[in-house]
Amino acid sequence: MKTRAVVCSGLNEPWKTEEVDIDPPGNREVRVKMVYSGMCHSDEHLRTGDISASPEVLELIGVPSMFPVVGGHEGSGVVTEVGTNVTQVALGDHVAVSFIPSCGTCHWCASGRQNLCDLGMATLAGPMISDGTYRYHLGGENLNRMAQLGTFAEEIVCHENSLVRIDPQANMKAAALISCGISTGFGSAVDRAKVKAGETVVVVGCGGVGSGAIQGARIAGARTIIAVDPVPFKLEKAKEIGATHTAPSLLDAQFMLPELTQGRNADVVILTPGVLKGDLIAAACALGSKDARIVVTAIAPFDQMDVQLNLFNLAMYNQALLGTVFGSASPRVQVPNLLNLYDAGQLKIDEIITQEYTLDQVQQGYDDQAAGTIIRGVVKFDS
Ligand SMILES: NC(=O)c1ccc[n+]([C@@H]2O[C@H](COP(=O)([O-])OP(=O)(O)OC[C@H]3O[C@@H](n4cnc5c(N)ncnc54)[C@H](O)[C@@H]3O)[C@@H](O)[C@H]2O)c1
Ligand SMILES: [Zn+2]
Ligand SMILES: [Zn+2]
Repeated sequence: MKTRAVVCSGLNEPWKTEEVDIDPPGNREVRVKMVYSGMCHSDEHLRTGDISASPEVLELIGVPSMFPVVGGHEGSGVVTEVGTNVTQVALGDHVAVSFIPSCGTCHWCASGRQNLCDLGMATLAGPMISDGTYRYHLGGENLNRMAQLGTFAEEIVCHENSLVRIDPQANMKAAALISCGISTGFGSAVDRAKVKAGETVVVVGCGGVGSGAIQGARIAGARTIIAVDPVPFKLEKAKEIGATHTAPSLLDAQFMLPELTQGRNADVVILTPGVLKGDLIAAACALGSKDARIVVTAIAPFDQMDVQLNLFNLAMYNQALLGTVFGSASPRVQVPNLLNLYDAGQLKIDEIITQEYTLDQVQQGYDDQAAGTIIRGVVKFDS
């Protein structure tokens, strides 16, 4: 069948709507009609080359290039067709997508860490994780899909392991953002940093992911939450969703901390800027107290090796530097959990969806994200 999808044809090329061919779902595959797709910064990392699988990995999985690629990995939709041997979802089910598939049986899934599922290795590859062949084609050429998904498309075909079944009553717009950005930020605070009641948390970068981190810290009971972002509009929104203080830079936050913490500094620092740079690590550690947890959530260019880090202080301050993927929680647990918190009015999502776009406006949405005029944009599909 034909569907409209937003494709990036090469490094730094703009997102552009194309009519693409999708094959029917194969073994353990599902077709989903998208309802909403959020616009996470990670798709921009793909377009700009920050997250490009290494040539060795591409060769291993038989993929000549990351491009052309259908963008989008954050979204919600309705199952419209199931292939053979599908057991986890059924026709008509409401689903959120997951940028890391969960097989349920590998070492990581079996030990309750589905965000680390071995199938995640193929998340940036185009061929299906079911059989290594392609379902998407454009003008005779095979198409890759962001994170085995490509949610900037009216219809997607993906593996059932890439889906999380949700309550049919669940708010589909909230589910779209929870499927990546909000879960990742929330989990960075709650599941990775394990924020405790009364602690002081600094969140650096207040886009979609940072908005999840601020709220994770609030719901976990943090006493002080300092939101850091150079854009004043982002700081206003951060206050609306739970930040107690704001600062335009890490240095400004550093000056504020002693007075707010009886001289101890922050228990937790969470890094969620659009692009991670090596010099931010030392700056983040400098905001941390003794025994602080510094959580690295944002994505850096994949070949970034140079980091500024005071190794003496890292040891003598007993600090922990922690990476996280999907906020270190399992998608099938975290997505329904956060939908419940949204329903209970505790997790604010409508407040941070500051702009809706049509499928044809995806590039405009990313231009707005770069200009700092939105917190999170979503693509709303025609029903
Ligand atoms: N680890 C994971 O599993 C995971 C999952 C999703 C997204 N991410 C990554 O998280 C990051 C944030 O994503 P997003 O969608 O919220 O991005 P975004 O572009 O919506 O927001 C980033 C924010 O950071 C701010 N910023 C930029 N430089 C800054 C600095 N030096 N100090 C303070 N603030 C700064 C920007 O003004 C913006 O408000 C991206 O790198 C994204 O790829 C990681
Ligand atoms: Zn994302
Ligand atoms: Zn697994």
